[in-house]
Amino acid sequence: MVKHTFGSRTQLIHSNHRNEERDLNSHAFPIFQTSTFKYGSVEEGEQIFSGTANHDGYSRISNPNHRFLEKRLCVLEEGEAAQVFDSGMSAIRVALSGFVEMGDHIVAHKNLYGGTYQLLKKLKRKSGIETAFVDARYAPTVIRAITPMTKVVFLETPSNPMLDICDFAEITTFVKSFRKNVVIIVDSTFGTPFNQKPIRHGVDVVIHSLTKYLNGSGRYLGGAIITSQELMNKIWENHDGSGMMDAEVAARIADNLVSAEDRMKRHNRNAEKVVHYLSVHKSEILRQVYYPGKNNHPNFEVARRLMTNFGGMVSFELKDADGSKTVSFLNQLSRDERMGAGIISQLVSLGTTDTLICCPARSTHKKIPCKEKLTQGITDNLIRLSVGTEDVKDIIYSLERGFRAIEGSKN
Ligand SMILES: Cc1ncc(COP(=O)(O)O)c(C=O)c1O
Repeated sequence: MVKHTFGSRTQLIHSNHRNEERDLNSHAFPIFQTSTFKYGSVEEGEQIFSGTANHDGYSRISNPNHRFLEKRLCVLEEGEAAQVFDSGMSAIRVALSGFVEMGDHIVAHKNLYGGTYQLLKKLKRKSGIETAFVDARYAPTVIRAITPMTKVVFLETPSNPMLDICDFAEITTFVKSFRKNVVIIVDSTFGTPFNQKPIRHGVDVVIHSLTKYLNGSGRYLGGAIITSQELMNKIWENHDGSGMMDAEVAARIADNLVSAEDRMKRHNRNAEKVVHYLSVHKSEILRQVYYPGKNNHPNFEVARRLMTNFGGMVSFELKDADGSKTVSFLNQLSRDERMGAGIISQLVSLGTTDTLICCPARSTHKKIPCKEKLTQGITDNLIRLSVGTEDVKDIIYSLERGFRAIEGSKN
């Protein structure tokens, strides 16, 4: 018989690591809600703690539910090893501390999630690890910023909230051609493994905030590192074991991962329709619409090469001299949502099945000094929309109510 290869969707659904003796033949993978695990002898304990046993010893180090979720993430990202954490920020902190120490240097894209940007700045103050924030939309800018002390290139693409696209394939090829040991990290939270696969293009480490699309429910916080076994060993050498995910959360996110591809297809489709509505019908009131799938996006050609679809995140900027229209627009949406006249919630976070909206300058990026925010392109009039999976006509209807509230008003 010809050797049969299971498809990636099948592999995802069936990627369990089962131990029938321990999990009593339950159909669903059980939730191992235990802080620690028994071992049958001193020798077995030694095997567990030297990493040669195939089961777990203590849930802060690993738990079957972590491994269940990690296996699924490896299938999706085509990585050899994954580690899940209690948040995306923990995953980023642990990944960075695996590769940099006092005096080292990082090159990062200038537009990043506010928490990541602040973390990189704190590394300089607390550990003398300096980050050069550059415009990584252009690969030569990254190359020029590399110094003999550079250990990591950190990209977020598409980026939060500007939807910048960095060519991780070209950057990886260039950097590795003269500095093989520089680790390329891509935060692919906005991209998701359904729209882009950085490891396939040579990227060393992929990061996800599992709080977002891969989970989709908005109930849990989580983060993940996906990489090679060799680099994961290096990360563990420097990791203090903190920031690990709860076992039940791991089980819930692993379940939600199975529907993520279908959800993502709807996010992608709805976002494209919302972008069309904004670009065609709201051009009078909008200064700019940011979306990697828009043919006037500065890196549209790169996005087309690296991404199969362009995601559910859209940003747009109102023509609004003093920010007052932005506030009125967002507050109208919140009022509508509370009264059942609209469906868009004003809050931070993204990637859930319902549509979410925020003003990054006044929330996720609030703590960043104004001048630095402007360097990233974040103005007080910039609005970030996480397009949900609802009927798209209802998303557009809700946005329209917000626009009606401000159309015609003076700046
Ligand atoms: C791109 C990106 N990376 C990382 C994070 C941090 O993830 P978490 O909130 O799960 O710590 C966020 C949060 O919004 C994000 O947008």
